[in-house]
Amino acid sequence: MAELSVFIMFSNNIRILGHSGLVAKAAFDIAEKTGKIDPFAAYRYGLFHDVAKFCLPKDKMYRHPLLGYSLMKDSGHNDIAKICLTHSFPDKHASEYITFYCKGDVVEASAISQKLQDVEYDFAVQLIQLCDKISGSDKYLTIEQKRDFYFQKYGIVASCIDKAYDVFFEIKRMVDSLIGEDLYAFLKINVGM
Ligand SMILES: [Fe+2]
Repeated sequence: MAELSVFIMFSNNIRILGHSGLVAKAAFDIAEKTGKIDPFAAYRYGLFHDVAKFCLPKDKMYRHPLLGYSLMKDSGHNDIAKICLTHSFPDKHASEYITFYCKGDVVEASAISQKLQDVEYDFAVQLIQLCDKISGSDKYLTIEQKRDFYFQKYGIVASCIDKAYDVFFEIKRMVDSLIGEDLYAFLKINVGM
């Protein structure tokens, strides 16, 4: 049994690492192409956005944005702390979505909502929100594919999720225009899968 739990922990961590590497790479490429932020800073944001997932059991993963924020803030990385906090919440005023994301844990959701109100959603924040959404653990996906995967996995069609995805699509359109081509083509994402 001990071997099995070590194996599960190991493979989960590999998935998080693979995902974080993809987010970092996409963020670097987009930052470099647009010139909006330092590509190496963007790479670090991607690499560390999910850092707190390594500290949490699967059923408490929804706590990783706030825990990541605290971990990074305590270690003096305020810029990464902001990314950890915001990367899952495309609309900081969408309290219904935040509570849904927190699996109904209203204490966690309200702590997140409160902190989000003080944060400016700048290009770095939106960039990692977008790159997170198009990154799986071993390949890039379209936002549409990620949404379908999500709905299939959870069997949920809630208006608060639709609204969150509307914002992800908005961010993608903004990035499309900044890079001068479709993001999916830029990252060579297979749109037909
Ligand atoms: Fe992520």
